[in-house]
Amino acid sequence: MRPEVRLTVLTGAGVSAASGVPTFRGPQGLWKNYPPEQLATADAFRRDPRLVWEWYNWRRELVAKCEPNAAHRVLAAWSARYHGFKLITQNVDGLHERAGTRSVIRFHGSIWEVLCWSRCAAAPARWRDETVPFPNIPPSCPHCGGLIRPGVVWFGEGIDPVVLEQSFEATECDLFLVIGTSAVVYPAAGLASQAARRGAITVEINPEITPATSSADLSIQGRAEEVLQELERLIQEGSALRP
Ligand code: OAD
Repeated sequence: MRPEVRLTVLTGAGVSAASGVPTFRGPQGLWKNYPPEQLATADAFRRDPRLVWEWYNWRRELVAKCEPNAAHRVLAAWSARYHGFKLITQNVDGLHERAGTRSVIRFHGSIWEVLCWSRCAAAPARWRDETVPFPNIPPSCPHCGGLIRPGVVWFGEGIDPVVLEQSFEATECDLFLVIGTSAVVYPAAGLASQAARRGAITVEINPEITPATSSADLSIQGRAEEVLQELERLIQEGSALRP
């Protein structure tokens, strides 16, 4: 591919699966029999902040022990090689950044950020806190002593308008890859069709059929960590053959 290609990638939990981070949906996606839709909401936090924080504390501990996999590494290499590369991730685990990927748009926030639940005046809008595990659950705001919440987007909450704008801009591209997402959570799930309407070729990489499969220009059924390595090998071979 030419270095100036405008390549945008949308990733979901499947990209981190080979690192040992469980996906949300599917047999290994449940935690203590609570579906994420019942834990990742402001109502759930209001009702039982300890339970919600136990879940996030567990996820933070788990992710802290995981390493980026081959899929993260290939995407990081592409981010350095292709000038028009953009990556929109629904993942909150930070593994793309740990692999060295540039220009990551964090669509659903980060589990490594927190904010004051009551938005106290003394606290910044959000800040990084990598304490693993938190000694006291639920953890408290160092500025007002109230609760803090994870810096992630919960069901029923809107996407940060700046992030939404950056993502919309990123759909103006030549090639749009959709990797490892079940494509059921909107507005992220609508980005591929947005890119297609704006003239991009769309390619899905996923071992399973999703609602996005039939509308993609090309669907590659396989695991991200294997397919991306193979694509990278072909790209390298292709550039070696070029005069
Ligand atoms: P899901 O758990 O819904 O979907 C994971 C997808 O990854 C499925 O389509 C799997 O087939 C696929 N998959 C599994 N292993 C794979 C592999 N090795 N390579 C490639 N694909 C693989 O996760 P998301 O689509 O990311 O939102 O979920 C979207 C949002 O729903 C999340 O960001 C989160 C969640 O609830 C919030 O927290 C707001």
